[in-house]
Amino acid sequence: MNKHLLSIHDVSAEDIIRILDTADSFREVGTRVIKKVPALRGRTVVNLFYENSTRTRISFELAAKRLSADVINFSTSGSSVSKGESLKDTALTLQAMGADAVVIRHSSSGSPLQLTKWVRGSVLNAGDGTHEHPTQALLDLYTIREKIGRLEGVNAAIVGDVLHSRVARSLSFALVKMGANVTLIGPPTLIPATAPQWGVQVSYDIESVLPELDVCYMLRVQRERQRQQYFPSVREYSRLFGLTSERVGMLPEGALIMHPGPMNRGVEIDSDVADLPQAVIEEQVTNGIAVRMSLLYLLLGSGTPAEAAAESTTAEQPEQVTLPESAAPTSERKVEVSADA
Ligand code: MLT
Repeated sequence: MNKHLLSIHDVSAEDIIRILDTADSFREVGTRVIKKVPALRGRTVVNLFYENSTRTRISFELAAKRLSADVINFSTSGSSVSKGESLKDTALTLQAMGADAVVIRHSSSGSPLQLTKWVRGSVLNAGDGTHEHPTQALLDLYTIREKIGRLEGVNAAIVGDVLHSRVARSLSFALVKMGANVTLIGPPTLIPATAPQWGVQVSYDIESVLPELDVCYMLRVQRERQRQQYFPSVREYSRLFGLTSERVGMLPEGALIMHPGPMNRGVEIDSDVADLPQAVIEEQVTNGIAVRMSLLYLLLGSGTPAEAAAESTTAEQPEQVTLPESAAPTSERKVEVSADA
């Protein structure tokens, strides 16, 4: 494994399998009462988010905390960045504080690479401009492998605003690397001119592709990144490229519907479609924590993943205490009391 995760190009197919297999060991930790292992005790992970984020920031924070790392959440509001501090000076400050890993999200493509020049720890790209979002792609691979049982030969379509989507880039590179067949679908104005060089197919007609798919991956229309009018109206976009119930009927049985979030219900995906059982959007979020635990562990940790997952301190496990009949609720005689309660 490389020291940093800046792009899917930093990880080989073998590394990807290792990351997903390691995530398998950590998935179980999230189902325990005490969701914590001591694998990264004493290590410091900084979340440096220059752009808004809900799920990615919380997911990284939970992943680091479940590995027992010390976590510092840094956001631009309320920090010296709002007083004009540069990325370099912020990075040097974090370096001086001994960060072992820095997770960065930034609106400028290439910021994570720049950061590697100023900090000694590992840098993980949590989304940089329209460039890449490699941890999203890895959690998507994990979810596809978990649900379909393989990655090789899987037929996937990535639908929508590919031009502005770092998710579409990372996911296309990752799926092609693992031997999947990828079709990008969207209006011609939102498909990058370089897309054919990614090893993918391109289509402008969603309905002709749907019957072949194992995975239909919908993208948000990234209006905050669009600097011109790429389609006549949102209504027309939804009519031509939105995933409606009628279009879901054209998918083979068992095909997955995926979305990286945040969703614009009623634009790229109908609200009732987002709530269907084959829409695995919440599973993607859950799997994201295990995959980010795996990455932090492989970049910073030591020992085998199985050892790390098995190594929960007994002091942290809840004790089973049986209350006397009179004190216990009638429906439940056993309660769990945490050792440090
Ligand atoms: C991203 O940060 O790129 C998101 O996960 C996807 C989006 O914003 O649409």
